[in-house]
Amino acid sequence: MEKVNFISVQEAIKKKSGKVSLRGWVYRERGSNKIKFIVLRDSSNIIQCVLEREKFETQWDEIDKLKIESSVEIHGKIKEDKRAPTGYEVLVDKIKIFQIAEEYPIGKDLNEKLLGDRRHLWLRSRKMTAILKIRSTLLFALHKFFRKNNFIEVEAPSFTASTSEGGSTTFEVSYFGKKAYLTQSWQFYAENIIHAVERAYAIAPSFRAEKSRTSRHLTEFWHCEVEAAWINLDDLIKLTKDCLHYVIEEVIKENTPELVSLGVNIPLLKKSKDRFGRIKYSEAIEKLNEMGHKIKYGEDFGAEEEKKLVGYFNCDLLFVTNYPLEILKFYHGEDLKNPGTGTNFNLLAKGLGEIVDGSQREENLDKIIKRLKKAKINLGISDWYLDSRRYGSVPHSGFGLGVERVIQWICGLENIKESIPFPRTPDMIYP
Ligand code: 4AD
Ligand code: MG
Repeated sequence: MEKVNFISVQEAIKKKSGKVSLRGWVYRERGSNKIKFIVLRDSSNIIQCVLEREKFETQWDEIDKLKIESSVEIHGKIKEDKRAPTGYEVLVDKIKIFQIAEEYPIGKDLNEKLLGDRRHLWLRSRKMTAILKIRSTLLFALHKFFRKNNFIEVEAPSFTASTSEGGSTTFEVSYFGKKAYLTQSWQFYAENIIHAVERAYAIAPSFRAEKSRTSRHLTEFWHCEVEAAWINLDDLIKLTKDCLHYVIEEVIKENTPELVSLGVNIPLLKKSKDRFGRIKYSEAIEKLNEMGHKIKYGEDFGAEEEKKLVGYFNCDLLFVTNYPLEILKFYHGEDLKNPGTGTNFNLLAKGLGEIVDGSQREENLDKIIKRLKKAKINLGISDWYLDSRRYGSVPHSGFGLGVERVIQWICGLENIKESIPFPRTPDMIYP
């Protein structure tokens, strides 16, 4: 038997004319007792296919029953047709039906809860497929960027004996009768790992028991974290800029059709990757008050303030450095030129807020112990972390980038849930 060469819908559209063999799922269907129109969907695109009854007399009963999401293979001739959804149409000569789908439980007007419960099916939508492709490009781009820049990928466990970021956002699990926690960050491990490999990164899930239901928080998110010896805050900011510039460039290169389908303004996105600004926390507070927000020095920005701040400084991505030490974690270094403030940054994206959090770390053991005491933190079982300061401490810096936040920003998504295939939130643990 002759081997059939199946091509993708997108390849068929590129081919423009001649014979094609395609396979996929019924995206839409309509027809009469003489003719049936199927819009066929595969991972690449959709295309209209026409079946005339006279060619399929023996198969017509079956064809008539084809419903949305039925799986088929078709063979026919492609031609241009301006009225068809993607400008081309296949006149079908042969069809093989794999399965006639049951009534598809996703229609036009389903609410968010239903789409959540049927997430495994909702992923088949053109929108979610586009996002999945962009996500894949972005993750690969991050790996490529760090490897090109001499970083070694080193993993850390998800079960931990104590927490790194602390606070109320820890998930406690039972670990053979003992308490353990799901990791909030790779950082404590990383600050030790760099004494071996100097430059390390990892992309892995972090877990946060975020009870607040916001449009930018997940309870499980993918965290791209980086730690490097011998680099300071300025080097780290440069690394962050280069990283974002690179991944945005890659996404534009690989996924222009997907970005277009999501309504992303590509020329603006292209410009964004170079529209960085840099200010100090104190300047942010001043500007916010000037613009009518009521916020005092020493307070953390609210979501609205973070979103707006970037625009006030006429850029798309804004590094805010030198937060007051009182609102920073104990591990961030102190800027000796601006005492009482950190060698840290938050990178805020216009319209969204924080997407990256990083700092030059406190490298001095005595100082870090003082900070811990002041914050009344007992590292306890995590005292091993401080070995990074006991045995050959070096200047070092690192950051954590929220993968879903970056996708949400690039794609202009209303809710962070859209940027991950199976989101986890306080309300979503199924499917
Ligand atoms: O700001 P965070 O909590 O910083 C850390 O965990 C540091 N230990 C990182 C480091 O220096 N290695 O988290 C880092 C980033 C945030 O800027 C945000 O983009 C993302 O992770 N993030 C979340 N994304 C989705 N849902 C959540 N609940 C998130 N919490 C943080
Ligand atoms: Mg943060």
